[in-house]
Amino acid sequence: MNNFIFHVPTKVYFGKDEHKNLSEIMKSFGTNVLLVYGSGSIKKSGLYESVMAQLNEKNMYELANVAANPRLESVVEGVTLCRNNNIDVILAIGGGSVCDCSKAIAGATYFDGDAWDMIMDPISLNKAVPIVSITTLSGTGSEMNCTGVITNQEINDKRGFRHPLLFPVVSILDPTLTYTLPKNQTAAGCADILSHLFEIYFNRVEGAYVQEELCHSFMKTVFKYSPVVMDKPDDYEARSNLMWAATLTLNSLAGSGFAQGWSCHAMQHVLGAFYNNTHGVGLAILTPAWMRYILDETTVSRFVKYGVHVLGIDSNKEDFEIANEAIQMTQDFFVNVLEIPSTLHEVGIDDTRFEEMAKKAIQSKNGVIKGFKTLYEQDVVNIYNICK
Ligand code: NZQ
Ligand code: ZN
Repeated sequence: MNNFIFHVPTKVYFGKDEHKNLSEIMKSFGTNVLLVYGSGSIKKSGLYESVMAQLNEKNMYELANVAANPRLESVVEGVTLCRNNNIDVILAIGGGSVCDCSKAIAGATYFDGDAWDMIMDPISLNKAVPIVSITTLSGTGSEMNCTGVITNQEINDKRGFRHPLLFPVVSILDPTLTYTLPKNQTAAGCADILSHLFEIYFNRVEGAYVQEELCHSFMKTVFKYSPVVMDKPDDYEARSNLMWAATLTLNSLAGSGFAQGWSCHAMQHVLGAFYNNTHGVGLAILTPAWMRYILDETTVSRFVKYGVHVLGIDSNKEDFEIANEAIQMTQDFFVNVLEIPSTLHEVGIDDTRFEEMAKKAIQSKNGVIKGFKTLYEQDVVNIYNICK
């Protein structure tokens, strides 16, 4: 197991109706609140009304229409609102996009330079606006980590950034708020959790038994409860287990001590920047192709472990048979259970920009994707081609 520092300062309120404690929670912050949200799901669900009623003694400012794959323009708009109105706290209500956009705003408000420069290099941050979040889509884990991902459409770039000051101070996780999700977003969230687990689990560090078992447990949770929520969106047991698994997967608990490559995420973020596709959908298409591409004598044992411990494949079979069966079962899960297409073509992406995108994916990782298996530019093109 590698060395690590684990420090996660986010206070979590988890469970049914926990969002009704918002007025109490917000008492410890100042009076000027920037409410950040997306394209209107919180208005349709009635959450907006409930929040405004609870915060009627605060000065409320709003940044609406934060897009899925949140854009730099929203960050800049939010920074202006924060600076002009002495915002004391940002209240982020939505999925990963709203939370990530809020993190960028929180940091860039006090950053000496423009917002994109902060995203490219946040290391010099020394102050940020505190964030309280209410999660309405579980998957990204943004509610309990200090990472954000922002798209700069002008240059077709989507970049991740992280800084310890950007952890939400409080996150409210009420699984009932995810009941209103459309089926495709529920599916994308489940695929995203699984992809995060693969990104951290498929690596070459040995001896991290605790983390491996945590990964097995969270993977089993996704496999067990995804079919339930696809069929019955208001199943509390399923929604709550998926929500907590999503949060714990990406709050460093399962990943610390591993060497993480984030290969599929590097390839997907570029698809998001160029085609604005849904994050979890792109990952579900790329992952089986990536797995097949990197499977060899040096990687097979981890696939065997995954196949036997998570998917229940007979351990007496030959290693490559187990590995291939595990990859096929994973793809079948994405396609048959989550109802996600298996090719880029089906989501409107053709091969005309594969080379350009591969270059960007590699650039975002400083020239090479050092994952479970090292990927160079041509490897990324090859993987895109397998997915077309
Ligand atoms: O905009 P609204 O109207 O709210 O609708 C959203 C949006 O259209 C809708 N939605 C959310 N909650 C809903 C709902 N609709 C009905 N009922 C609800 N309860 O769902 C759509 C997608 O929302 P979005 O926030 O974009 O999805 P997600 O949570 O999957 O976030 C994706 C973004 O997170 C980044 C991705 O790159 C992508 O930009 N990620 C962030 C990470 C992090 N911060 O650690 C890690 C991830 O790997 C990922 O990269
Ligand atoms: Zn993700």
